Amino acid sequence: MSDKVDLKALFEPKSVAVVGASSNPAKIGHKVLSNILNGGYHGEVYPVNPKGGEILGLKVYKRVAEIEGAVDLAVVVVPAPIVFDVVQDCAAAKVKFLIIITSGFSEVGNRKEEKKIVDFARKHGMRVLGPNVFGMYSAKVSLNASFGPSKILPGKIAIITQSGALGGAMIGKSVVDRIGLSAIISVGNKSDLDEADLLQYLKEDEQTRVVLMYIEGVKNGNKLVRILKDMPEDKHVVVIKSGKSKRGALAAASHTGSLAGSDNVFNGIAEQCGILRAESVNEAFNWSRALSELPLVEGDNTVIITNGGGLGVMCADACEKYGVPLMDDSVLLQNIFKDVMPEFGSARNPVDLTGEAGVEEYKTSLKKALNVKEINAVLALYCETGIFEPEGMSKMVVEMDQIYKKNKPILFSMLGGEKVEEIIDVTRKKGTYVFDDVYNAASALGALYRRKRFIEELKHLENTPDIIINEMAIRRVISKARSEDRRFLMPDEAKEIMKLIGLTLPRWRIARSLDEAVSFAEEIGYPVVLKIVSEDIIHKTDAGGVALDLENKNEVIDAYQAIMKSCRTKFPKARIRGIEVCEMVPRGVETIVGGTFDPSFGPVVMFGLGGIYVETLKDVTFRAVPLALNDAKKMVRGINAYPILLGVRGEKRKDIEGIVDVLLRVGKLMEKIEDVSDVEINPLMVYEYGEGVKVVDVRILLKEEDV
Ligand code: ACO
Repeated sequence: MSDKVDLKALFEPKSVAVVGASSNPAKIGHKVLSNILNGGYHGEVYPVNPKGGEILGLKVYKRVAEIEGAVDLAVVVVPAPIVFDVVQDCAAAKVKFLIIITSGFSEVGNRKEEKKIVDFARKHGMRVLGPNVFGMYSAKVSLNASFGPSKILPGKIAIITQSGALGGAMIGKSVVDRIGLSAIISVGNKSDLDEADLLQYLKEDEQTRVVLMYIEGVKNGNKLVRILKDMPEDKHVVVIKSGKSKRGALAAASHTGSLAGSDNVFNGIAEQCGILRAESVNEAFNWSRALSELPLVEGDNTVIITNGGGLGVMCADACEKYGVPLMDDSVLLQNIFKDVMPEFGSARNPVDLTGEAGVEEYKTSLKKALNVKEINAVLALYCETGIFEPEGMSKMVVEMDQIYKKNKPILFSMLGGEKVEEIIDVTRKKGTYVFDDVYNAASALGALYRRKRFIEELKHLENTPDIIINEMAIRRVISKARSEDRRFLMPDEAKEIMKLIGLTLPRWRIARSLDEAVSFAEEIGYPVVLKIVSEDIIHKTDAGGVALDLENKNEVIDAYQAIMKSCRTKFPKARIRGIEVCEMVPRGVETIVGGTFDPSFGPVVMFGLGGIYVETLKDVTFRAVPLALNDAKKMVRGINAYPILLGVRGEKRKDIEGIVDVLLRVGKLMEKIEDVSDVEINPLMVYEYGEGVKVVDVRILLKEEDV
């Protein structure tokens, strides 16, 4: 069933009521009204205030229900205790959308009142943005229904922000940076509409090319992932997700009353959906501007043109950092630039025109680079020199930018004193953004490359194999655990589930006595492993509950007795169900495959190096389910230790295909069996290519029954 909300009347309302409009210019209710009037909105505007009269030349209605015309949108700016009355009044007037600016609800623990308001609104056909928002701006109808800055430039970037204050600040910055917005919306407490709903509208809005999101916590992450996965190629999403550090996460949680999602999970999902995660507002703005104004790069040949060698080298470093590939065909470069190069210049990349280059030489070189089809993008750098004329330079930069940027990405960066500052200022005012740092320019071009690569990958997706798991039998195993009031599965149950999802395991039996242990070991064949089986002993090795590499009967007898003694001493009250006797698997690369139910994003799958490394290095990657073949492959490639799987120092490549298969099967389990909260295969032993992988140990937990 589609959960898409029709948000036309929110983004393009024909009429707006401001409930709590005030004649006092110091009040928020006044600012919202004046922003609407000054912003050029063409629809009907109805101020509402029990005092009546007139505000800013408009008749004031004492109640919403008194307004004769239909009201698409009501912006509510009355104190919290009055909001419910106002909402009731809006329902009587058949208002379609409410933007509740008022604070004092779930963000301060007042969940009950917030829920009462939203439940009532929904029941009466109204949808709610907020509460605790700064309002919204929609370029389509020139509506600035916010108490943020009044000046907003219309354009192609839509901003969705969880923090209203940051939203206001971003409006200010967008004006200074001359970035045009198609919309800016603050989602606040997300009591009803959330970023996913807004994204649905913006996805289809032809004016919006980039959606920039500021997120702290995500409540309905699987819906968000679904929409993000479905974004068209030509619509880019840049996200600033705060709450990364422990302190940040704490502040984020108290700031909006929502939980900040796990950072690793979010990074994985960003990769999976092709969204770009920015570290700062500046970075997000730089990327958004580039993505909204420049075409995506067509190929891997970027050329740096500079009049200063040092700046060029720094830029080459920055390109490496941000994944910008530099053209290295020196013969072709020599041919292209030989006429404009002084003898002591360099036609290798970076192309160094030297400090002698004036505006004309620079312009000629740029034109060559921009007109040659083999060059795909240009980073144009300039250092202040003595022979430098700012006016000519500004003119040339704007001209080149305006003529060529539609065909091929061109990014300028300049460094110097007052004269350079002047150029940067003049050009930005004319709509050409000149960076003041090569790293920022390379990072923006890197964003174009990343999007391009993601889109290319989509074009070459392999089919994901159809994985059938025995759901009925799995549910039977789970029901048995539930009937015994257990949230964890016993090792034999967990292993049974592994079999039911199609994975092979080492041979094993559970022995209830020493005699059984010996006879099972003989049956399985030496060497074997013994492991304690008890739901009360989680860390088996620490409890002395594991013995590896037992070569004969006597070693099994000794190990059995030692395990029992150690576990009984360390955990006298533990329920011991027996000792598992298991085939000792040969050593391979120890990896971990996990599945967990993330509170924000729902079921996700994890891959990383296993054993002790998982806790020390935290070298893991995540993806949300459903997992495609491409996702699973990228998870494996995404860990820092990937070269180990490719084989180091003459070792053979490992069985990566085997890992991918396990990831897909665990993904299917997490997708289909909603009762499972956690699966952990650790270690998953990985052997050389063609020799497969082995699930050595597995643990499965179930969700709490009421979740
Ligand atoms: N219908 C219409 N208007 C009413 C009603 C009613 N039933 N009852 C009262 N009013 C009028 C009041 O008379 C007043 O108008 P007046 O100036 O003519 O007297 C107006 O509504 C506002 O009421 P006040 O009591 O003056 O409240 P005030 O304007 O001081 O505060 C506000 C209201 C702004 C909603 C406040 O309660 C609030 O929540 N402030 C925080 C807003 C905020 O920060 N939101 C989050 C944004 S995100 C960020 O971080 C920036």
